[in-house]
Amino acid sequence: MSLVSFGLGQAAFIRPKVTTLTIHEKKARQQRITCLTAYDYATSRLVDEAGVDMILVGDSLAQVVLGYENTMPVTMEEMLHHTRAVRRAVKSALVIADMPFGSYHGEVEQGVHNAIRFVKEAGAEAVKLEGGSQRVELVKRVLDSEIPVMGHIGLTPQSVHKMGGYKVQGKDLGGIERLVKDAIALDRAGIFSLVLEGVPREVAAMITAEVSVPTIGIGAGPECDGQVLVFHDIVNLTFSPAAKFVRRYGDAASLISNAVHQFVSDVESGSYPSDEESYHLPKETKAEFETIMRRKQLKAYTR
Ligand code: KIV
Repeated sequence: MSLVSFGLGQAAFIRPKVTTLTIHEKKARQQRITCLTAYDYATSRLVDEAGVDMILVGDSLAQVVLGYENTMPVTMEEMLHHTRAVRRAVKSALVIADMPFGSYHGEVEQGVHNAIRFVKEAGAEAVKLEGGSQRVELVKRVLDSEIPVMGHIGLTPQSVHKMGGYKVQGKDLGGIERLVKDAIALDRAGIFSLVLEGVPREVAAMITAEVSVPTIGIGAGPECDGQVLVFHDIVNLTFSPAAKFVRRYGDAASLISNAVHQFVSDVESGSYPSDEESYHLPKETKAEFETIMRRKQLKAYTR
């Protein structure tokens, strides 16, 4: 990190830009990798400035920002819109756009076209897509377009209907074998990192030892090379009980709610705004203004 001084004695640490190479170097040095989701300018700035390695504009946007029941309805246009806002905020973290349901499930060309849109129209530096061996051809084609790909296996929320609910994956030997095969297939296809979601700790540890790329766990235990969580989960902004793996680091719901209650009460009682919170006329105008007001009052009185 370098120390950059600003004119008024302020100083700020500027982090070097995180790239996919940085992520690989961190794994090689056995340094844990951090990733959080973010979807807008304000929170992305805070997340970036707090030193997170990667920011994922997750399709969890559908639920935590747009209020949908699951991730399926969020569109390419909505994901692009939010990725642009994140891009404008982030200086150092690697910005990854999550490909939404339906944007890569048809022809490979469709997936490549949409991955390119995230980079060209929204400034993403990588894309994430869900699925294992069935995505190998697409991963290779997206890489041929010079776009790094993050894989995502295990509990993949876009497969909620196929899985019959949000269920931990890889709990039996058949399931473990499928996960390991998928991880190896994606690793060989050239992904730069792999999200392992909702899998037993032992299975995540095994996959982490097996593949060359960093594994980023969410509900996958501490042996992964890094961890990702949904921003709204860690600050209590999800309006639902947290999953087992979520650790809450703050209570934004209380903070916001208290601030809004206070505002309502201050406006209703007349204590906001105060004189200090009001603009005033300049001296010269004030004298003339008061003369006019006095004349007005006099006229009204003599009528
Ligand atoms: O959309 C998302 O938030 C995700 C992460 C939880 C990995 O895919």
